[in-house]
Amino acid sequence: MNVLICDKVPKDAIEKMRAAGLQVDDRAGIAADELKSVVGGYEAIVVRSATKVTAEVIAAGQALKLIVRGGVGVDNIDVKAAESRGVAVKNTPAASTESVAELAIGLMFALSRKIAQADASMKAAKWEKKAFEGVEVGGKTLGVIGIGRIGLATARKAHLLGVKKVLAHDPWVPTAPADFVTMTDLDSLLRESDILTLHIPFDKAKGATLGAREFGLMKPGVLLVNCARGGVVDEGALLEALNAGKVGGAAVDVWAKEPTENHALAKHPAVVALPHVGASTKEGQGRVGGEVADIVIAFFR
Ligand SMILES: NC(=O)c1ccc[n+]([C@@H]2O[C@H](COP(=O)([O-])OP(=O)(O)OC[C@H]3O[C@@H](n4cnc5c(N)ncnc54)[C@H](O)[C@@H]3O)[C@@H](O)[C@H]2O)c1
Repeated sequence: MNVLICDKVPKDAIEKMRAAGLQVDDRAGIAADELKSVVGGYEAIVVRSATKVTAEVIAAGQALKLIVRGGVGVDNIDVKAAESRGVAVKNTPAASTESVAELAIGLMFALSRKIAQADASMKAAKWEKKAFEGVEVGGKTLGVIGIGRIGLATARKAHLLGVKKVLAHDPWVPTAPADFVTMTDLDSLLRESDILTLHIPFDKAKGATLGAREFGLMKPGVLLVNCARGGVVDEGALLEALNAGKVGGAAVDVWAKEPTENHALAKHPAVVALPHVGASTKEGQGRVGGEVADIVIAFFR
């Protein structure tokens, strides 16, 4: 069986597939045109988030039986086109849970203590002690939008760190998944939370979950963390809410368009901006690689 690696996958995962008897070509970073011209020779392709597996790529993959996306979601794969040609699409949803949850927690503290801003000030050779008074995370109400794998892992860590209350909104989770979580509707959660964190997929048809109306409901000075997907927060509405002081600070790891061109938002003084690094830890990447290898090996067995 021939396997084409299109995006970076840890070396030991590639070795594991080879040791299982698979012919693996590591072409990480392959260009879209090149992919279309060579995909015909492979039964499986492995991608992360960079490679777009379009209907054209799938049509050119005459022998294709399996597409594996290392990571959460399959946004970069035309799943309908794959299904219509009988090609299986699989991903590794649990591999990055801990990494993303840890980042969400880190960003809550980054916002509450203005860590990034204070560091930038020091690097500009300033000493602005008075500018960086913060607030504590402990004793606050945390609102978790989407209490699936990452939402719950984040809620658990926040609970252990002493938040007063964890509210969660998730229409598909009818009962609280832990005794420290209180389920509620979105509007109540927005009205009551001091800190908000999103852990939901982006549904293009529904659009942003947080827009101008939702920002209007929030507590003045609320801190917002988005490590979910660009698009779940309306970037224009967020910028307005930041400018109006309604949102006290926002940490944005994921963007409507990546790489983002929304420099007004990224450079806003109350924003901590990251280039979609939620899952980028050694451990998380290692788990993604291991799961990818296991999926490919099991499929061809
Ligand atoms: N920043 C990163 O690098 C990174 C890495 C991994 C995952 N993510 C994102 O994190 C998100 C959550 O991942 P997960 O593994 O916890 O997924 P999950 O499927 O376990 O949980 C998602 C939860 O969101 C709920 N949900 C969906 N739409 C909702 C809505 N409109 N309002 C409230 N709840 C809603 C679902 O019912 C589900 O319980 C995913 O969208 C994923 O794309 C980001």
